[in-house]
Amino acid sequence: MSGRVNLLVPEVRANPYPTYAELRRGPVCQVDPGGYWVLTRYEDVVAAFKNPQVFSNIGMRIATKPAWLGHNPFGDSMIGMDPPNHTRLRTLVNRAFGPPALARLEPRVRAFAGAIVDRLPEGQPTDIVDGFCLPLPASVIGELIGLDPTQHLLFKRWADDLTSISAIGPKPESETPRMAEIRATVKETEQYMSKVLASRRVEPRDDLVTDLINARVDGEALTDAELMNFMFLLLVAGLETTIHLMSHSMRILMERPELVARLKAEPSRIPRFVEEVLRYEPPVQAIMRVTTGDTEIRGVTIPKGSPVALMIGAANHDDSHFPRADSFDMDREGTNNLPFGHGVHFCLGAPLARMEARLGLEALLARFSRFTPAGPLEWNRSMTVRGPVKMPVVAHAK
Ligand code: HEM
Repeated sequence: MSGRVNLLVPEVRANPYPTYAELRRGPVCQVDPGGYWVLTRYEDVVAAFKNPQVFSNIGMRIATKPAWLGHNPFGDSMIGMDPPNHTRLRTLVNRAFGPPALARLEPRVRAFAGAIVDRLPEGQPTDIVDGFCLPLPASVIGELIGLDPTQHLLFKRWADDLTSISAIGPKPESETPRMAEIRATVKETEQYMSKVLASRRVEPRDDLVTDLINARVDGEALTDAELMNFMFLLLVAGLETTIHLMSHSMRILMERPELVARLKAEPSRIPRFVEEVLRYEPPVQAIMRVTTGDTEIRGVTIPKGSPVALMIGAANHDDSHFPRADSFDMDREGTNNLPFGHGVHFCLGAPLARMEARLGLEALLARFSRFTPAGPLEWNRSMTVRGPVKMPVVAHAK
């Protein structure tokens, strides 16, 4: 491959997998925007995830808190830390996402899914991202961190803005209106979250924010800044990613009507379908790290302090690990956890995301039998997450 690949040009965005295949065949190299070094083979991506001493999560902080942005509580959250600082915070929040918390949430998620699917129009064009893929994860995040359910589109805009920081890169040539918009979003989100925190301190509720305020490890509570950082982390990590899991699932069902028929006949296979969507179209395509020393991979030296993207999207299409990796095959055996990362930062919300997708698709397939495209699909712009932001669809009952 000659010249630097730009992963955000529209044709690569619409289908990055042929480009990833070329990157996997070549030597380890850098891409645009941002000049990230990319690891694309399954084996290399997993090895880097397992080695935080060399591939530091400070890379997440650098990618999400570039100098042009300045302040961003997401970048200061535990996702941008290495052990032991990360370990303390992770221990504090682990419990809030354990099996009892999930079991408590399940009936609520099922009720949200049912109500959202009931509102979808039948036989008429609708944007399925706004009508179905967004409202379920937004309702769940709302439930967890106390967001007002009438403001879903606002939270989606915040999450979109916060995940598009990586598309601008660390050192843009000049100031653009988009940069000012993102700075304003950080401020607006922070003001909103401050009000939620203040109200829970005065009036505790049976929710995650109250649990986090009350959480103690060795008698120590989270500081106000740590609480704010964690709420940003949940909004960004839990909303955009799950919306894309739902929208990739929808696109695959629209393109493969035989799968709709099969899943309607065998709803118990929905979790297997979701696993294959996570492998074939991972919502998180890349996770950022920074090298703590000169590091040699496949004969190429990545210098100390370099930004590195661990390309989950490319690893999940590596034929040496997944036979016929470019084929969607829901009968593949086993679970592939790489879409949720690996090692100490493994996704806290993986079981929740899987539950949302399962219950959302169960409700959808109980009502509809066919989905047809009703207009062009639009992709988001981010180095980390990838998914359609607009997908006009007609849903048919018969
Ligand atoms: C399909 C949906 C999701 C995908 C693909 C996904 C993916 C990921 C990945 C790849 C990481 C690893 C980051 C790293 O190694 O630096 C991660 C971390 C994280 N995820 Fe998710 N995620 C999803 C849904 C959720 C949900 C629903 C929540 C919570 C409501 C959540 C909360 C988190 C948190 C808190 C972390 C940071 C963990 C840490 O730093 O220790 N995620 N996620």
